[in-house]
Amino acid sequence: MKFKTADLRENYIAKGLDENTIEKNPLKLFEIWFNYAVEKKVLEPNAMTLATANRGGIPSARIVLLKDYSEKGFVFFTNYRSFKGEQLEQNPKAAFSFLVGNVSKTNKNRRNSRESLVWGI
Ligand SMILES: Cc1cc2nc3c(=O)[nH]c(=O)nc-3n(C[C@H](O)[C@H](O)[C@H](O)COP(=O)(O)O)c2cc1C
Repeated sequence: MKFKTADLRENYIAKGLDENTIEKNPLKLFEIWFNYAVEKKVLEPNAMTLATANRGGIPSARIVLLKDYSEKGFVFFTNYRSFKGEQLEQNPKAAFSFLVGNVSKTNKNRRNSRESLVWGI
């Protein structure tokens, strides 16, 4: 290996996030950041890491594509019989996060996926 993994680190301090000025509504904040990512032509701006866990709490994560979002929730498509489908059957709690490369923002969401997701292929 020609580089040290630990050295792969961007300096995000310059822009920062200010609790006093940031949008308080998480959905509106997501929309601002998502629009920004699309505008900046981030690679796969709707790709998100989806974390699930089985009934015993063993976690697993993978990339899926966000298909829609609203106050009802965030939508992705998948196969009910996939591994993640089985995990969501056992434990409907899920979390996801976006890496908005080059523009220094991440956004995390947690909620009961049964309430929030439309999925199937
Ligand atoms: C850029 C990208 C987008 C993907 N989008 C989806 C998706 O929308 N839905 C999906 O089921 N899998 C998607 N996949 C594949 C998943 O990451 C995963 O490999 C697959 O769904 C099996 O996951 P599981 O075994 O945990 O169920 C995508 C992979 C990549 C790299």
